[in-house]
Amino acid sequence: MEEKIHAIYAAAETALSQTTKEEEIEEIRVRFLGRKGELTQILRGLGELPSEKRSFIGKLANEIKTKIEHAIQSKLDTIRASRFSRLIDEEWIDVSLDSPRSTGEYSRGHLHPISQIQYEIEDIFTSMGFTILDGPEVETDYYNFEALNIPWYHPARDMQDTFWTEDGNLLRTHTSAIQVRGMETHRPPFRVIGPGRVFRYEATDASHENTFYQVEGMMVDREISVAHLIYFMKVLLREIFKTEVTIRLRPGYFPFVEPGFELDIHCLICNGKGCSVCKQSGWVELLPCGLVHPNVLRYGNIDPDQWSGFAFGLGLNRLVMMRYGINDIRHFLSGDIRFVCQF
Ligand code: DAH
Repeated sequence: MEEKIHAIYAAAETALSQTTKEEEIEEIRVRFLGRKGELTQILRGLGELPSEKRSFIGKLANEIKTKIEHAIQSKLDTIRASRFSRLIDEEWIDVSLDSPRSTGEYSRGHLHPISQIQYEIEDIFTSMGFTILDGPEVETDYYNFEALNIPWYHPARDMQDTFWTEDGNLLRTHTSAIQVRGMETHRPPFRVIGPGRVFRYEATDASHENTFYQVEGMMVDREISVAHLIYFMKVLLREIFKTEVTIRLRPGYFPFVEPGFELDIHCLICNGKGCSVCKQSGWVELLPCGLVHPNVLRYGNIDPDQWSGFAFGLGLNRLVMMRYGINDIRHFLSGDIRFVCQF
């Protein structure tokens, strides 16, 4: 019996020394130590041995069992270590090498100019305490028109040619719908902006698109006046154009503000002398805005005797066109890589 145990150990050692694979080691473990393994059989049969031999053989068999377990573990460690060092040898990377980009093999993408300006505007407004809101592109009549003081019979609906869905909803024609949602989730005083994509059922030409981008803004607080509106708009424009801009307000009609304005800037291309961008007028219409109409506040469950606010709707395409001197709005969605790569 004693020799048999030693022979099992020798056999296990030989088997281990002849293998280099983890799967085979498992087979060896089963062969010797598994439920029906050679050593296990002996340990099981101890009871049949005469008692004077039993403890000696039992002790020996257990010692050998532990030795085989250790041998298996150390073989596994060796195999894993050598696999690891082989990987390090085969798959090392020289992190000091130039990237494929710098050798011109690949070029990395970047944000679309509209997204770039949107993120800049978000940064400017969040630095002034505004929260950024989102809203759905498929809107209900209520959020896009009704709660903005444009009931179904109102002629102002004709100003915004609308894509209707068959179930009576619509593709939002402006981000002003986000104002209404903002008033539902925020209690005054609050400051919010809502950037997003908007849609108009329009024939396209150099200055019209059926899909474009706006940022809506709304501030509601006590005794908000046109002076607050002008202050925030001037900060915005100065930050965007990196220069002090001259502005003027003209009356403008939008049912959701009273008074409503068209805010123009002194043309930055010709410095007000007159050019093709400003149509020789020296001024560029950029930013419709106004003081929030009391009815709109009421729709938002805000008491217009206690609170007032300003709102504005900034067209992002126009802004990017001004910044880079782009002459056709259709470039933005053309998908032409030669266009977007310039920014
Ligand atoms: N929603 C208007 C449009 O797309 C723009 C606008 C005008 C937004 C005046 C406003 C505002 O918040 O006060 O034509």
